[in-house]
Amino acid sequence: MTTKPAISSRWNSRFSFILAATAAAVGLGNIWKFPYIMGENGGGAFIVVYLICIFTLGVPVLMGELLIGRRGRNSPGYAARNLAAESRRHPAWQLTGWVTMFTGFMILTFYVVVASWAFSYVVKSAQGQFHQADSEAITQIFRGMAGSASEMLLFTALLVIATAVVVGKGFKHGLERTVRWAMPVMLVLLVGLAFYSALVGDFASAVNFMFKPDFSELTMSTVLIALGHAFFTLSLASGVMMMYGAYLPTNTSIVGTSIWIAIADTIVALIAGLMIFPLVFGYGLVPGEGPGLIFQTLPLAFASMPFGVFIGTVFFVMLLLAAFTSAISMVESIAAFTVERFAVSRWTAAISTCVVLFALSMLTIFSFSGAGWTQVDITFLGKHMTNLFEVIDHMTSNILLPIGGLIIALFTGWAIRSKFMAAELQAAGWVFKLWQFAVRYIAPIAITLVFLQLTGVLS
Ligand code: PHE
Repeated sequence: MTTKPAISSRWNSRFSFILAATAAAVGLGNIWKFPYIMGENGGGAFIVVYLICIFTLGVPVLMGELLIGRRGRNSPGYAARNLAAESRRHPAWQLTGWVTMFTGFMILTFYVVVASWAFSYVVKSAQGQFHQADSEAITQIFRGMAGSASEMLLFTALLVIATAVVVGKGFKHGLERTVRWAMPVMLVLLVGLAFYSALVGDFASAVNFMFKPDFSELTMSTVLIALGHAFFTLSLASGVMMMYGAYLPTNTSIVGTSIWIAIADTIVALIAGLMIFPLVFGYGLVPGEGPGLIFQTLPLAFASMPFGVFIGTVFFVMLLLAAFTSAISMVESIAAFTVERFAVSRWTAAISTCVVLFALSMLTIFSFSGAGWTQVDITFLGKHMTNLFEVIDHMTSNILLPIGGLIIALFTGWAIRSKFMAAELQAAGWVFKLWQFAVRYIAPIAITLVFLQLTGVLS
């Protein structure tokens, strides 16, 4: 067994844990990604499949991560090492923790850049740059922003500094305190925007689009996209949930809280859809526009709607808050590990993590500005990539996340002894059996399918 001291901080209450885990889960994935992939994949039928994935695959893996964190009482790498030792398994199982932490950090390096687009859009919309703008002008604004290295360096730096300050203050005064105001504010803004959008947009068409599934539109690739997104949106396989599990009081129900987190995350994604699509339909825009839906399509609605400058600004503030709380949670888990591993202070850990983060975010920033050294020409597992951002995005979202999820499922389902997992779960026998069935069979099979599809083997 390791001699690493166990983590002694605990969440203030079950409520603050649920709030923080929800804050980690709710982010760009819910408000930026979910609406556009739903738009591209036929609306209602996609939602049905997505919900099935969240509850049959996402919740069991989330429970597995919380179990590892709480029983291991350490940052992910050491927690997994402790558990492997406890069950007398090969020490290589500790990779479960290390691989997922690495994945989380690499996701973070481009996540902060997309978050800084939201930041820059707050300023641009408050300045009225989108007012009366046409589609051509908005595309120019977006390209000009993403392509300007100096602007992106500035906004990303501000965001990373803010993150370092929150994490540096420590677990209770930083993260816990921040999510306590940021999450409710973000939710109130989102719900307010959804009401306004129902008022000025075409709510009926949006509801029709989202809740009248047309299963003839369903393809295998839709199913697999839904599965992959269920993973990303719950922040699974990125170290975060394992870290949060380490702070979880012993008597908190892992089953109950996991279900709550999944429900809260799903509700936010659905409200985001109900906020965005009435505007898309009401203003004659196209729902299947892809990743530009929020940054290029939606501003067209803000350009001409009543109080568009104000509403647009509020929208990007809300997006920024959602992204910021997810970024803090990722940095939190890396910083907590650094404190433990190198016996440095919180501030040293937070600042050094953020310095490395900022340095690596340049790989993405300069990819968008077209700097020569970021341009590559690689085809890997069926995907052609032209710059470093695409390499990092593909490697993390499509390769490391599924692999991490698979390892977590196998580790908690097969490697750790059942009696330890059952004791830690503290749930009725049939609940444990159901969970074990999910991590032993459903998750590995489903994840292997997604993985093969995403890497082109099945397509
Ligand atoms: N779940 C976050 C979102 O939906 C993204 C994320 C992934 C955050 C992995 C942390 C770790 O935006």
